Amino acid sequence: TSLSRRSILKGAAALGGATLLSRPSLAYEGLPILRAAPASAQLASAGYPPTPVWAYATEAEGNVPGPEIRVQAGARVNFQLANDLPQPTSVHWHGIRIENAMDGAAPLTQAPVPPGDTFDYDFVAPDPGTYWYHSHNRSTEQVARGLAGPLIVEDREPWLGEPSAATRELVLILDDWLLDSDARIIENRWEDLHAASHSGRMGNTVTVNGAAYPELDIQPDERVRLRIINTATDRIMPLSLPHLSARLIALDGHPVTPREIDTLILGPAQRADVVIDGRVDGEARASLLLDPGNGEWVEIAGFIHSGDTLPSRGTDVRPLPAWGTLPVPDLSDPQRETLLMEGGAMRGMLETRFGGETMGFRELAANGMVWAFNGAANEMDKPMFQAALGRTVQLKMSNRSVFPHAIHLHGHHFTVLSKSGAANIEGDVRDTVLIGADETVEIAFVADNPGQWMIHCHMLSHQKSGMMAWFKVA
Ligand code: C2O
Ligand code: CU
Repeated sequence: TSLSRRSILKGAAALGGATLLSRPSLAYEGLPILRAAPASAQLASAGYPPTPVWAYATEAEGNVPGPEIRVQAGARVNFQLANDLPQPTSVHWHGIRIENAMDGAAPLTQAPVPPGDTFDYDFVAPDPGTYWYHSHNRSTEQVARGLAGPLIVEDREPWLGEPSAATRELVLILDDWLLDSDARIIENRWEDLHAASHSGRMGNTVTVNGAAYPELDIQPDERVRLRIINTATDRIMPLSLPHLSARLIALDGHPVTPREIDTLILGPAQRADVVIDGRVDGEARASLLLDPGNGEWVEIAGFIHSGDTLPSRGTDVRPLPAWGTLPVPDLSDPQRETLLMEGGAMRGMLETRFGGETMGFRELAANGMVWAFNGAANEMDKPMFQAALGRTVQLKMSNRSVFPHAIHLHGHHFTVLSKSGAANIEGDVRDTVLIGADETVEIAFVADNPGQWMIHCHMLSHQKSGMMAWFKVA
C-alpha cells in the first residue's frame, strides 16, 4: 500500500482539526490537498462571461474566494499545497502567529513551490478570530488573479447564540478586480510602475464573496456577526452599513470593546468583525456601501429583509471573549526601532540602496523600484532590525509620502500606541495598520516568535516596488 502509517495518522489528525465547510475529498492519502490551479468564476453581473481566475480548491473545482478553512483555537491546520499553476507559488496564513517555517513568505521562509510540486503546511492556529490565507509569491499578480480565501479560528468560549451576541455569522470577502469589457482580468497592470508609484493597482469591479452586487438575505429577527475581510491587492475600502446599528467587535481578529460605527475603513489585508441587526427602522432594504474614492457611497451588497419595523433590540452587544494568549508589551525599556517610508509620485526618492548598490531615482525606476523603507528598496539580504526573543520592540513608523500604506508584520500582532492623524485607533491590537500621508504611527509588540519575519506594505503593488523588508527574532 502507498499509505504509510505516518500519512494515515496525519490525515486523521487533519480531519479532527481543520473542518472544511466545503465537502472534503473522499479519496486523499495523507494530508488534505489545497490545490492552486486555473479556474473560472462568475465575478461580473449576469450577462458577462465568467472570468478566468487562479483559485484554491479542496475538491475538484476551485473558486474565488478559496474554500473556508475553519478550526478551533489551538487546533492544527494542515494541508498539502499542490501547485497546478504555471508559476511557483506559496501560501501565507495572514495574521496567524505561526512557526516561522510554515509562514509561507517566499523566498524568506521557504522556496516558492514550482509548478507540479507540493509543500506540506502543518501548524497550530493559537488565537481566535477572522484571518485569511493568500499567495505570497508574485503576490501582486497571484492575489489579483484570485488566490485568497478565509481562515476562521473559532471563539474560545461559545459566543454565537448567547444573549445579546449574534444569532448567526456571515463571512464577507471583499475583493477588487480589474476587468476588461469581456470580464477578463487585465493582465499587464501588475507591471505598471505608474500605478505602483500612486495608490497601487485599482480595480473596476468590487465583489463580495466572489460576486458583484450579491443579495444577502437577513431577516428582521436576526442579529448577524459579519466577518469582513479586505483581500484586495491595493484598494482601501471605506465601508458603511447604514440603518443596521453596526457595532465593531473585533479588528484583525482581536476583540475590541464593542463600539458603534458610522464608517469603517479597511486597508488591504485588514479585517473587522461587526454585529448588525436586521431590525431596520422603516427601511425595506439595507446595504453594504463602499466609497470608491470620490466620496460617493455605492452599494456593493444588499441585505434584503421583510421591511417589518420591529422594536429595537438595544445596541448592547456582548464583547467577544478575550484572547488571553498575546504577551503584553513592556514599555518601561523597549528596543526602539524606526521605519521611514519614502518615495512614490509627487515626492520621489533620494539615493536609495537596491541590490547592494546605491541608486538615483531613474536607475531605481528602471529596476521597478519606486518606494523605500529606511533608505533601501526591497532589501532582503539582511534584516531591518533584530530583536532578542521576548524583548518588547517599539517601532515608530513615519510615512513621508503622499499616499497611505498598510504596514503588516508577520508572526506577531502589535498594539497601536499612537497615531498622529485624526483617527483614534490607539490601543487597538492589529497585524496590519493603515498609515496616512505624512502620518506617524507607533506600535509595540513582544518579539516572542523566533525566526525571520517579513514587514511590508500590504498594498501589493507597493510591496513589489520597494516596500518590503524583514526582521529577525532570535
Ligand atoms: Cu498578508 Cu506578507 O502578507
Ligand atoms: Cu504602501
